[in-house]
Amino acid sequence: MRNVTLEQIFEHPVTQKYVKRAGLAHAIATSYHAFRLAEKNKVNPDLAVKAAFLHDMGHYTWYRDGEWDFDLYKKNDIHAIKGAERAHKLLIRLGEDRRNAKEIALAVLLHTDSFLPVEHEQLNRSTLQQIVAQADELDEEPSGNHHYRKISEAKARKKIVELDHRVDDALKSHVHHQTNEV
Ligand SMILES: [Fe+2]
Repeated sequence: MRNVTLEQIFEHPVTQKYVKRAGLAHAIATSYHAFRLAEKNKVNPDLAVKAAFLHDMGHYTWYRDGEWDFDLYKKNDIHAIKGAERAHKLLIRLGEDRRNAKEIALAVLLHTDSFLPVEHEQLNRSTLQQIVAQADELDEEPSGNHHYRKISEAKARKKIVELDHRVDDALKSHVHHQTNEV
């Protein structure tokens, strides 16, 4: 069973600061895409939704004179690295299983290749890592607008709780399959 729920992650002040900074609506939409893709590909949906929800928590605000500086961002961004570290630390604090925390952090790290020195470097991603990267792309809008989409606190919490239920149900039915196979 799960040691940590999405709702617990959502409530934590670290999440409130960093996931909101990068866009809560985008984080939630990406998590729903990841859930669907995980079910389709028979990947653990718990890991997929957690990695998707936290994938952009490493973002820094690259402002110059009050405006977002895309050049500055492109040159200096390490949000995937920073996000992997933040996600791992947060999950361990909340009591996540260590193996799961590592898998989730790695999926956060590899959701983009934008930090790699060689452009279009081919990453050899696991299915979980592919799912998180694909879920992120599915919610992307031109000019990074997906980071600015708004969602109310109440609606966000409702969606998070709903997704927790879906993950619980999915995990229960997986256990069922396994039991039937024995
Ligand atoms: Fe993203």
